[in-house]
Amino acid sequence: MSEIMIENVCKTYRSKDGRVDALKEVSLTIEDGDIYGIIGMSGAGKSTLVRCMNFLERPTEGRVLIRGRSLASLSEKELRRQRERVGMIFQHYNLLMQKTVLENVCFPLYIQGKKKKEARLRAAELLELVGLEERQKAYPSQLSGGQKQRVAIARALASDPEILLCDEATSALDPQTTSSILELLKDINERFGITIVVITHQMAVVREICTHVAVMQGGQIEEEGKVEDIFAHPRSAAARELIRSDRGGGTMERQRWQEKEICNGRRIRIVFSDHSAFEPVIANMILTFQEPVNILRADTRNIGGAAKGEMILEFAPGSSNIEAMKTYMSHRGLETEEVTEDVEQ
Ligand SMILES: Nc1ncnc2c1ncn2[C@@H]1O[C@H](COP(=O)(O)OP(=O)(O)OP(=O)(O)O)[C@@H](O)[C@H]1O
Ligand SMILES: [Mg+2]
Repeated sequence: MSEIMIENVCKTYRSKDGRVDALKEVSLTIEDGDIYGIIGMSGAGKSTLVRCMNFLERPTEGRVLIRGRSLASLSEKELRRQRERVGMIFQHYNLLMQKTVLENVCFPLYIQGKKKKEARLRAAELLELVGLEERQKAYPSQLSGGQKQRVAIARALASDPEILLCDEATSALDPQTTSSILELLKDINERFGITIVVITHQMAVVREICTHVAVMQGGQIEEEGKVEDIFAHPRSAAARELIRSDRGGGTMERQRWQEKEICNGRRIRIVFSDHSAFEPVIANMILTFQEPVNILRADTRNIGGAAKGEMILEFAPGSSNIEAMKTYMSHRGLETEEVTEDVEQ
């Protein structure tokens, strides 16, 4: 049975500025144990597609099946459990800056209800696996980009996922560090049989580790197949262009991506209104997006099971889930607003 099946998926965003068809009738099949690349230029729809794979975005049309089960047929609880089986890593690592490396990896384990001792033992094992056993007590700011991504990989593996989704996981890294991270992903794929989906705009990444690749442009899949076939006989203009720019080294691209990395985590204030049930919203959001958020300030009281007051959250720097998380909260009755001033902790 195929690991992931995307069937005629469309995703349309509607906003004040009009409508964007981010995905148009996308279909693809990813087999168990594949390292599947999804490549395309900026805006092609890659991140949208990968977010549909665990329903962080719900498709406007079409179906997403994981091991034959349609995600649309799952209850919220089942979906949450399903998402635990899917790890994610991102370009900006999304680590908790005020926590040690070890605690960052413990984070998903705590959310799953693991005891501190058990979580720490497991986290230490995972850090050994990614080659960071010596840096357990370090803080993310003391690590290089490649080391931070190793921490993020260890964290993603904490819930024993069957699938690992990597959205531009090496885009902020230099070529040598990129190779070492790709090597690690390949090793994880071979040792644990985890299916890996690699989103990238760099053909070099596809060439280095992927078994299959889909080339995206304008919300559509232009071409799809085995990596060696696409390299040998690219049929679409999009694939030819990507292969050509790969030979050129892509220096400008890299610079552009590095520039994107320099930013602080955005902050929002949440105002709890009458209808918001207290704890589960934030905890469930963290579970759903598998991404830590810092609670910078919480001035809330639990009044008869409902929360009153406000809370200030900081998202991980460079997080690509902020808009989706804000939507998630607003659907659950929480008002949010951006905070620009400094927050005393
Ligand atoms: N939440 C959103 N609301 C409105 N439009 C969106 C939203 N998310 C993405 N889009 C639009 O959908 C299209 C596809 O975006 P997506 O982020 O999937 O592209 P991408 O291939 O990942 O690009 P990049 O390489 O820059 O990350 C873009 O035109 C983008 O502006
Ligand atoms: Mg993207």
